[in-house]
Amino acid sequence: MRIRGRLEKEKQMRMMATMFTNNSPNVLLSTKIGYSSSSRRRPTPRFFKFNSSTPIVTNYPLAAKPAIRAFSASTVLTETDPLLDSTATVENKDKTNNKVLACPICYEPLISSTPILSVDSLRGATLQCNTCKKAYYSKEAHIDLTASSGAKAYGELRPIMTEFFRIPLVSFVYERGWRQSFSFWSGFPGPEKEFESAKEYLKPVLGGNIIDASCGSGLFSRLFAKSGLFSLVVALDFSENMLRQCYEFIKEDKDFPEEKLILVRADISRLPFVSSSVDAVHAGAALHCWPSPSTAVAEISRVLRRGGIFVATTYLVDGPFGFIPFLRPLRQNFLQISGSHVFLSEDELEDLCRSCGLVEFKCVRNRGFVMISATKPS
Ligand SMILES: C[S@@+](CC[C@H](N)C(=O)[O-])C[C@H]1O[C@@H](n2cnc3c(N)ncnc32)[C@H](O)[C@@H]1O
Repeated sequence: MRIRGRLEKEKQMRMMATMFTNNSPNVLLSTKIGYSSSSRRRPTPRFFKFNSSTPIVTNYPLAAKPAIRAFSASTVLTETDPLLDSTATVENKDKTNNKVLACPICYEPLISSTPILSVDSLRGATLQCNTCKKAYYSKEAHIDLTASSGAKAYGELRPIMTEFFRIPLVSFVYERGWRQSFSFWSGFPGPEKEFESAKEYLKPVLGGNIIDASCGSGLFSRLFAKSGLFSLVVALDFSENMLRQCYEFIKEDKDFPEEKLILVRADISRLPFVSSSVDAVHAGAALHCWPSPSTAVAEISRVLRRGGIFVATTYLVDGPFGFIPFLRPLRQNFLQISGSHVFLSEDELEDLCRSCGLVEFKCVRNRGFVMISATKPS
């Protein structure tokens, strides 16, 4: 009986594998990389401060949007029609969007029974790695793609800063007042302005896929999905309770485009995405929460395709705080205890990006708040 059960399962997986390889001509179609010339970015000053009383970026009208040719695993091509001078969306023949997810153990693509990933199609879905054969199951609305998912006897505690956000009450209050208080403490401009500013940096990759890394309760993931500017948004966090909150917010919004977003539980240090398959990674207020920013940014660099863009926000302890004696050794102690990081200058952030293979570093400041952007070399 047991052997028959195993044979049945193997047969099922072989069928799923055939489905996957049947799409291979489209895979070829979707792995080219490039921009049309008009999508090249204008030179931007490397460091500039913005006046908090004025909007940080200008919202460009739809008709003036740049032509974009961002080819990736799940890409929609966007081109400006020269006659109409308006943005027309040319859909890639590749209708599937499930080629971005990878096994966090082998980094090989995961085979899924559903060709189109969405919040709803992931409910009850199982993905399997063709190499190590490990199966990954969805839990409620998210799929658990941590390396230890499915472990029964084994368990491990992460650093305080990571475990803290897994507490149900913390996840509940996060978007209900706490996030807004960042403006007061560190000069975060607020979600709307941060979103507009991020969009400006992401212009060259609009139409592609985006990972909202350490999304929390999905404040920005939902804005990215609702903007319609990306073919797929992956809301990723280590906290299952944050992802639960994100799902509740989605369900409360009747007009939410559920086919544009998926919820993934994963560790930032072990991203479950195929190398060079991602057009953009956004990480709002999260760099300082990661146990090892360099491991995380190296992972982000691995999954970004050539020309892919990383945009992140965090806070800096500089200015008058820079004169606090023993700040650097104090920081080390803080880091060891809390598992979080304190950045002391823009140069540190630039160095971090450069050391992880990202170039064209840019940043914008408002008091302690800093938004950075860096690009995977083309
Ligand atoms: C301050 S919240 C930021 C939430 C949201 N991006 C925002 O802009 O408000 C930091 C997030 O980092 C997540 N986080 C911490 N450690 C992580 C890890 N190792 N892997 C993935 N996410 C992690 C936490 O669960 C939390 O949701």
